[in-house]
Amino acid sequence: MDWGMKNRMSRLIRPETGRAVWLAIDHGYFLGPLSKLEDPGKTVKPLLAYTDAIMLTRGVLRNCISADLKVPIILRVSGGNSIVGPALSDEGIQTCMEEAIRLNASAVAFSIYVGTKHEHNTLMALGELVNEGQRYGIPVLAVTAVGKELEKRDARYLALSCRIAAELGAQAVKTYYCEDFKEVVKGCPVPLVIAGGPKLKTKLDALHLAYDAISEGAAGLDMGRNIWQSDNAVGMIKAIKRIVHDNASIKEAAKLLKI
Ligand code: R5P
Repeated sequence: MDWGMKNRMSRLIRPETGRAVWLAIDHGYFLGPLSKLEDPGKTVKPLLAYTDAIMLTRGVLRNCISADLKVPIILRVSGGNSIVGPALSDEGIQTCMEEAIRLNASAVAFSIYVGTKHEHNTLMALGELVNEGQRYGIPVLAVTAVGKELEKRDARYLALSCRIAAELGAQAVKTYYCEDFKEVVKGCPVPLVIAGGPKLKTKLDALHLAYDAISEGAAGLDMGRNIWQSDNAVGMIKAIKRIVHDNASIKEAAKLLKI
């Protein structure tokens, strides 16, 4: 890895722990203004002090986030689809690398849809993005998207998607936690972070998810709804951070939430 690429990676994944807590607020690019993210700037303001990076689109970055932001940016650069459109998997590069550099992004994020009719296009676009990223020293985070098919989140499918993303050159991969997650980690030679997915029934469920993923080899979490849709969003991100960076137990983390 070249110096610039290494430097950006070290801003995203703490070298002292080899782990990361990222805050994802990019959902609107295909889901619109979902609950608690109607005003993303207001939602994230109290959370910025506790995250290692923020994942979002250029539109939200420019319009809702102050330019004195100190937190590294993971810029969502894919899009072109919507939750009500004909094919959620029909996603392409929507924001160019020049924009990412202009916006001082530390990484770009792109979704791949393995096993769908748009598999080929999304994988080719990932390759293109990696080529551009290598040229400018910008890491690429590949997201193994499943769209509406949440049942696809099993170890066999996720191991396949994550490995393909790494083989095509992604510097990090974002996926889902699943049963036998260790198998997914084992087959992926780059750091894996997990999404939280839709809001879980309880805060304790979200802590369990974080704890299990970290214990089984995830490098961290890129979490959204289970943090900012929580009635104690600051408490949630602090508790998750304790698990990820301080190896806290679920019980210790739960104490921060008074649950
Ligand atoms: C989803 O497509 C977005 O990329 C989100 O960044 C991702 O799913 C993480 O957010 P959450 O924890 O809410 O699933």
